[in-house]
Amino acid sequence: MLSCVYHVFLRHQKTYFRPFLGQSPPINNRKKPMKIITLINEKGGVGKTTIAVHVAAGLAIRGYKVIIADADPQGHATLCLGLKKEPGLYDLLVRSSPFRDVLRVVHPERYAPPGQTPKGQLYVVPSNVETRSIPIQISDAFAVADRFKELDGVVDVVIFDTSPTPSLLHGSIYLATDAILYPTKCEFLSFDGLVESFNHRQMIQPTRERYGLSELKVMGIIPTMFRSSTLVHQENLNKLKAKYGNLVWPEMYMRTTWAEASTVGRLVFSFAPDSSAARDMWTVVDRVEMELAL
Ligand SMILES: Nc1ncnc2c1ncn2[C@@H]1O[C@H](COP(=O)(O)OP(=O)(O)OP(=O)(O)O)[C@@H](O)[C@H]1O
Ligand SMILES: [Mg+2]
Repeated sequence: MLSCVYHVFLRHQKTYFRPFLGQSPPINNRKKPMKIITLINEKGGVGKTTIAVHVAAGLAIRGYKVIIADADPQGHATLCLGLKKEPGLYDLLVRSSPFRDVLRVVHPERYAPPGQTPKGQLYVVPSNVETRSIPIQISDAFAVADRFKELDGVVDVVIFDTSPTPSLLHGSIYLATDAILYPTKCEFLSFDGLVESFNHRQMIQPTRERYGLSELKVMGIIPTMFRSSTLVHQENLNKLKAKYGNLVWPEMYMRTTWAEASTVGRLVFSFAPDSSAARDMWTVVDRVEMELAL
């Protein structure tokens, strides 16, 4: 009886979201569960937001329904995608707003190559400074998991962009996440942020276990803003590979295209689709798609 009620509830829930999220079935008629990935490094300026928004956009271009959840009070993911900062995540978690009230559509011109229509869709749960007060307003560690579970079967991938400063919100995101991507510069302080982030991931494992959740997977570590001509970068990359082995993905090079694209409010796929920067990022999108087995 209870399971019957539950299924009716689920069916109702999906019809509820469809008017906003579109009618198209997932590509290849896949019936795969939604995946949540999170970008973390407790050091600022290592490329978390850049990778989060581009991976989200790349997957949307390829045909997936993707939500980028901006969990940083700076609201940079929101801004990068041409949207205004708003308390989207705050409304969702604190005011219990429905998704259809907080989701914002990203205009394809911002992220898709000129003349190309994305096969999927890209939405944002925006952020602003109010995100900072989420942890003092919510007491349920599963708040993030419970809200985003509502999208299972409607959305293919959710990508969380996080702030460099650890908070209880990170803890709640850890409980909702399937896999983590760690961008890092090949520099001492970024490595410290990486180690701290790995420690916090480790600390959440017993809680996940207690609630029957699988181990929080490390999807990969992405060396960013890499300069092959800089000896210290080469040495540090070698150290990173010695410590983490196959978890280290191919390095992303320091390129001015990233700054140029953000100056005009576009992603590199749209601003410079044939650039080396765009090629570097497609390699990351390929790998994410493969790791998630989408
Ligand atoms: N491969 C790259 N080459 C050159 N510049 C880059 C590269 N990747 C990112 N950037 C630039 O570096 C800056 C910091 O990147 P980003 O905002 O993505 O870092 P972050 O880790 O999200 O920072 P924060 O911790 O403050 O949120 C941005 O101006 C971005 O355009
Ligand atoms: Mg950021």
